[in-house]
Amino acid sequence: MAKTKNFFQCQSCGYASPKWIGKCPDCGEWNSFAEEKKEAVSRQSAIISHLGKSEPQPLNSVTGERGQRSSTGIRELDRVLGGGIVSGSVTLIGGDPGIGKSTLLLQAICGIAEKYGKVLYVSGEESPEQIKLRADRLAIHSGDIILLSETSVESIVHTASKLLPKVLVIDSIQTVYTEDILSAPGSVSQVRECAAKLMLFAKRADIPVFLVGHVTKDGSIAGPRVLEHIVDTVLYFEGDRGHAFRILRTVKNRFGSTNEIGIFEMSDAGLLEVENPSELFLLERPLNSSGSTVVASIEGTRPLLVEIQSLVSQSNFGMPRRTAIGVDFNRVTLLVAVLEKKVGLHLGGMDIFVNVVGGLKIIEPAVDLGIITTIASSLKDIPLDPKLIVFGEVGLSGEIRAVAQAETRIKEAAKIGFHRAVIPAGNAEKIKGNFGLEIIGAQNVEDCLEAVFP
Ligand code: TYD
Ligand code: MG
Repeated sequence: MAKTKNFFQCQSCGYASPKWIGKCPDCGEWNSFAEEKKEAVSRQSAIISHLGKSEPQPLNSVTGERGQRSSTGIRELDRVLGGGIVSGSVTLIGGDPGIGKSTLLLQAICGIAEKYGKVLYVSGEESPEQIKLRADRLAIHSGDIILLSETSVESIVHTASKLLPKVLVIDSIQTVYTEDILSAPGSVSQVRECAAKLMLFAKRADIPVFLVGHVTKDGSIAGPRVLEHIVDTVLYFEGDRGHAFRILRTVKNRFGSTNEIGIFEMSDAGLLEVENPSELFLLERPLNSSGSTVVASIEGTRPLLVEIQSLVSQSNFGMPRRTAIGVDFNRVTLLVAVLEKKVGLHLGGMDIFVNVVGGLKIIEPAVDLGIITTIASSLKDIPLDPKLIVFGEVGLSGEIRAVAQAETRIKEAAKIGFHRAVIPAGNAEKIKGNFGLEIIGAQNVEDCLEAVFP
């Protein structure tokens, strides 16, 4: 019998220590150590020895693409994966509870089952009856979707090896366990070991595997960051539960670009693909009301027009409030300071609220000019031209800096029917053609405000 010994492991990053410690020296997390039991023999070497031998070979003698891509029938998902599912790949989908991970995967495997045949959906969280209820709601009645309620990774792999499905889905990786390790399911060593076993299965059987991973309070996939290193592709399903929009984002992809996003809308019949997100985000925009600006932003490789609203009102307290939802708070305070110092707007005694409509989060600096104009518009109580878009990064001395992909942004604005664009002068010089818009290049914040408030 193998000798067992206990040790302590950080549940957030996987750092191991022989003693319990309060703060992880690796990731800095407090109170994250839990006791784990491990056999004295290292399993890692056992796994590697299973992988089989491969001979060294010259690069130019390697032929073809390993495996074909299969389509899920959901275009937004295919694009995020880099053009479909690669056979033998392991994909991790992370996201908050209730965001729609199980729904997305059920819809995806329905498309695969229709086209390619049997798929295996293993759920350790829901009973087959619960899954059936959801499938009814989504109008999925395929006989090729095989359900399995199982949490032992050994029996999952055993069943999958017999069934040889086109896709294997594990919902979720935190509920499965391996008999080789004595720690509780969901602990770092369990999650890592199970993922390694499933990875091995995927590569050997050449079957794509999807793993659902829960997300911790601080936003990383629960348990181990080590999991992100093991798998081929990591996707995050984000969104605000109060809003219907969901964004599927690539964090890592061994088979494609990490710049892609997929946009979905949660409806009462499951997730719908959003073909034209800009139109959707601008749907309820109040025209001719102050404190509303449309910014041409880029999410990954896709242009996205979003409305930024602000409200500037006289503060009743000595300490004026600043609130930013969907944009960086520090960025907003910085831009308010630029407006005060460089343009002379009196914002010192004002409460300022900035909000991105639709529950989106925009981190790129091109949104700066939108924040500037929306705050100025609200303060002056002058509505902006409803057919105007802006974008550009603002520096500390009030200068406007060029941003990437200006042409893509302008084209998107033209498509939606905008007439004017105030953009960085650096971009305006280089841009070829105006795509039917009046393009105004602004050197600094003053230029920009002059252009938008004639
Ligand atoms: P689910 O896929 O169970 O989330 P996860 O697996 O990420 O925990 O999503 C459940 C949520 O989605 C739940 O709040 C109900 C909602 N929902 C709809 O609004 N419409 C639908 O058709 C379905 C199936 C779920
Ligand atoms: Mg679920």
